[in-house]
Amino acid sequence: MVLKVAGRSEISPFIVMDIMRMANRLSMKGSDIIHLEVGQPSTKAPRAVLETAKTALDQNLLGYTDALGFADLRKRLTAYYQDYYNCAISSDRIIITTGSSGAFLLSFLSVFEAGDKVGLVVPTYPAYKNILKAIGVEILEIHVSHETGFQPNREILESLDTKLDGLIIASPSNPTGSMIKKIIFEEILDWCAQKKVRVISDEIYHGITYNEKAETALSYNDDAIIINSFSKYFCMTGWRLGWMVVPDNLIRTIERLAQNLFISPPTISQLSAVSAFECLEELDSNVLRYADNRNILQEELPKIGLKRFAPSDGAFYLYVDVSDYTNDSFSLCQDLLTDAGLAITPGTDFDSRNGNYFIRLSFASSTFNISSAIKRLDQFLSKKKSSH
Ligand SMILES: Cc1ncc(COP(=O)(O)O)c(C=O)c1O
Repeated sequence: MVLKVAGRSEISPFIVMDIMRMANRLSMKGSDIIHLEVGQPSTKAPRAVLETAKTALDQNLLGYTDALGFADLRKRLTAYYQDYYNCAISSDRIIITTGSSGAFLLSFLSVFEAGDKVGLVVPTYPAYKNILKAIGVEILEIHVSHETGFQPNREILESLDTKLDGLIIASPSNPTGSMIKKIIFEEILDWCAQKKVRVISDEIYHGITYNEKAETALSYNDDAIIINSFSKYFCMTGWRLGWMVVPDNLIRTIERLAQNLFISPPTISQLSAVSAFECLEELDSNVLRYADNRNILQEELPKIGLKRFAPSDGAFYLYVDVSDYTNDSFSLCQDLLTDAGLAITPGTDFDSRNGNYFIRLSFASSTFNISSAIKRLDQFLSKKKSSH
């Protein structure tokens, strides 16, 4: 007899992880693959972080920490909020998590009941939807497009005919890199406060912006939950470390959840991350490289027939319209991988309605890789055109 598998686990795969697995298999067999699929900085953690990690290992300091995180790191983040955003917050409100992924689970469990309705801006980072589904929360997809710069605004929210319990926003967003303008950001957060809609603001791409600095929801809405991570700006993906800033009345609730779900976030990562704040110059120089890569792509892609993409104001993604070439972005990405050695994510990961007409390129790689990728893409698309 086959024993049952819980229905709540029937969620979509995270397609980018599937593409990465296929790409890694091909690399292991000797294929020369350029990775533009995964949102991962090609530069590794800063040197000072590694030095601190070595000391922690030598001194064998790796027991559990408090469930809410290592006190020195929480204090260091308080200073960062003061310096970077001019926001004064108590370190009690900062909760260290196992990546921002751990923070999603903790925040969703703490404020949404099964059956609640949460608005998601589509195209969206897929894990929001998939985690919410697994815990029985209903999703309202709020589709955005070029018309509003791939971000929502107050009018869009006012026109919804469903009462929302929560709204997830991300500026810069993944997959588009688009940002919400300051005035619109303020209006959205005001509207949510008036309508008692809980805002979860994913601020993981803060620090990686090309025109204006990103705004934190903390400045405009006292009930918002802020989620951030050491994965992107700080280049520490595999260290699995993130954080949240939560309203006072949620601290104990989340502490109880964190104690039971995770005990504590990875200790070596917490101890080492304190040193990341000494390395902001090194980290900012990575952002300059992303800016160069972005400029190259924005200049070269139109020359090879890819003329339409979302405004990439931040993060390290270009969400490119490929509707002139396909209505099946997953097959296109499979062909790009096997025929051109390019690992790229299909838009279907982020949008089940229109994603077949888009692909997402990550430009967090080296400038050399980006230039080589454009050449391969050009050859691939020229062949595709001539075969039609
Ligand atoms: C928008 C967004 N949020 C969260 C994450 C998860 O990051 P982590 O769990 O590594 O902090 C990612 C990763 O790509 C992301 O793009």
